[in-house]
Amino acid sequence: MNFDEFIATLPSSITRGYHYPLPDNVIKKLFLLADLGKRDIFYDLGCGDGRSLEIAATEFGVRKAVGVESNLELAQAAVERCKKIMKTRVIKDDLLKVDLSVATIVLVRYADSELTQRTERKLKRELADGGRVITIWSPFGLTIPDKIDFPFFVTKKPFCRARSLRDQIKSVYGQRCIDFTAAWLLAERYIDQLETVKTEYRRFVTILQSLVIWINAWKMRVACEEEIPPPVHTYLGIMKTFFDVDLSNLLDKY
Ligand SMILES: C[S@@+](CC[C@H](N)C(=O)[O-])C[C@H]1O[C@@H](n2cnc3c(N)ncnc32)[C@H](O)[C@@H]1O
Repeated sequence: MNFDEFIATLPSSITRGYHYPLPDNVIKKLFLLADLGKRDIFYDLGCGDGRSLEIAATEFGVRKAVGVESNLELAQAAVERCKKIMKTRVIKDDLLKVDLSVATIVLVRYADSELTQRTERKLKRELADGGRVITIWSPFGLTIPDKIDFPFFVTKKPFCRARSLRDQIKSVYGQRCIDFTAAWLLAERYIDQLETVKTEYRRFVTILQSLVIWINAWKMRVACEEEIPPPVHTYLGIMKTFFDVDLSNLLDKY
C-alpha cells in the first residue's frame, strides 16, 4: 500500500487530531518551558477533556485557565473534570470565535494546517504584547520562537518572523538545512519527548517519521543533500519489504 492508503488505515480520530491527548507529564514539561505561573491567563485552544486546565489551575496556580472545545462530548468531559476546580472555564465553541485578548498564554495543538494558519492570524490580531504561544513540533508559520526544547516551542508576541524557511530552520536547529541524520535525531527526540510510543513500535515509528521529515525537507528544498542519500533508499526498502508501506510515491510528487 502507498502512504495515503497506510494513513487511511489509521483511526480518523487520530489522523484528524480530534482526540489525541498529551500525557500529563508532557503538559507539565510544556508549562515549565513556558514559565506558566500565577499571573497567567491560560487558554487551551482545543482543550479536549480539559486535563491541561486542571494541571494549569491546580499545579501551576494560574489566575485563570480557559479551555475551548468544539467537540461536545469532549467539552462535556472537560466540564466534568473541571467542575470543582476554581478559576477554570470551558467554552463549548469553535476556537476561531473566541476572543483571545485577555490571554497571556495559549496552547495550540491540532493537525489541521488550515485551522493552524487561521489561528496564527487570530493570535497576531488579538494576543496582547508579551503573550506566549506554546506549539508542538514546529513554531507556527515562519515565526522564530523564544524558547525551544524540541519538539516544544514558546513564541512571544510581538512575533519575530524569519526571512525564509532556511533562516527559521537555522534559528531552531542551528543549521540551514536538514540532512537525514538530523531527520532521524529529530524523530527520535520527538518520540522520546511525547512519551506516547510503546517500546515495541519505537523502531517502526522512528523509521517512518524520519523518512517523512526528510522527504518533506527535500520537497521544500531545505534538505542538505543534493541526491537522495543511501539511508533513505535503504529505509524506503525496509518499509516496503517488511511493513508493506510504500513511501516512494511521496518522492514522486516532487
Ligand atoms: C490534538 S487535540 C489537543 C487536546 C489538548 N489540547 C492536548 O494538547 O492534549 C485537538 C483538539 O482540538 C479540538 N478542535 C479541533 N478543531 C477545533 C475548533 N475549530 N474549535 C475548537 N476545538 C477544536 C479537537 O476536538 C481536539 O479535542
